[in-house]
Amino acid sequence: MNNTIGFIGAGNMGGAIIKGLLSGGTRSSSDVIICDPRENILQELTKAFPGIQTDTDNAKAAGASILILAVKPQVYQAVIQEIREQVKPETIVVTIAAGLTLKKVSGWFGEKRKIVRTMPNTPALISEGMTALCPGPEVEEGELRAVQDIFNAVGKTVVLPEHLMDAYTSLAGSSPAWVFMFLEALADGAVKDGIPRALAYEIASQAVIGSARLVAQSGKHPAVLKDEVCSPGGITIEAVATLEEAGFRSAIIRAVSDCTAKAGELGA
Ligand SMILES: NC(=O)c1ccc[n+]([C@@H]2O[C@H](COP(=O)([O-])OP(=O)(O)OC[C@H]3O[C@@H](n4cnc5c(N)ncnc54)[C@H](OP(=O)(O)O)[C@@H]3O)[C@@H](O)[C@H]2O)c1
Repeated sequence: MNNTIGFIGAGNMGGAIIKGLLSGGTRSSSDVIICDPRENILQELTKAFPGIQTDTDNAKAAGASILILAVKPQVYQAVIQEIREQVKPETIVVTIAAGLTLKKVSGWFGEKRKIVRTMPNTPALISEGMTALCPGPEVEEGELRAVQDIFNAVGKTVVLPEHLMDAYTSLAGSSPAWVFMFLEALADGAVKDGIPRALAYEIASQAVIGSARLVAQSGKHPAVLKDEVCSPGGITIEAVATLEEAGFRSAIIRAVSDCTAKAGELGA
């Protein structure tokens, strides 16, 4: 088996994995074959990473030893039908689509295949991604590790049972969108109070990065860290009360549940 990684689809998520992987230098450009109908994307990637192979014909990536399908969930079935004859039995097929179950994808191949269902996120672009992996029954431990190595090169990974994949999708696949909304809103508030826009984004981003790292590294419960910022009768607790009144936490809890349910609908 060769050492190649094929990508079908090089949009937001596929592109982030490709760029994170090749910028990090853990894989050589010549190991990577990328297929996408958009010539401009392929040209951009070739310029950034000379030596990669690109094509608009998906069959070119289908022979890779690890094949990452990075198209929208609605396009999977058509792409699998198009390439399934060219995909070798020993190829490890990696899906990154929200909601699509191993059973469904396996059914589209029509025969037993080595499939790893994953859920990455766009911070992979800067090697700060978070990816969950769930191997199908045909995947051996070493094969799962080979896929995990790709995603470890662009961030952290966790192996999960399939019944948790939809909830995980909200928690880490979709949540960057909500964090970006939070950052935008923080900056809007600061701009309203006179801080220049660019500076507001810079400061808000660092505040969020620092807070997230503090949770991850201190091991303290987030509520304890929140309490430590809130002096009695102080300014922060004033804003905590405002956020509670506006339903801040319950809105997020509901958003996660709605997102999980929607992912479940995609797989149904
Ligand atoms: N975006 C995220 O944050 C995120 C996070 C986790 C997982 N995902 C998953 O990642 C997958 C891709 O999402 P995305 O946001 O990257 O979508 P996207 O930006 O639209 O990228 C998909 C790419 O695939 C191309 N494509 C369409 N039909 C194709 C075909 N038949 N063969 C080959 N390439 C084809 C698209 O080209 P055209 O634009 O010309 O159609 C586009 O360049 C989805 O399954 C999604 O659930 C996304």
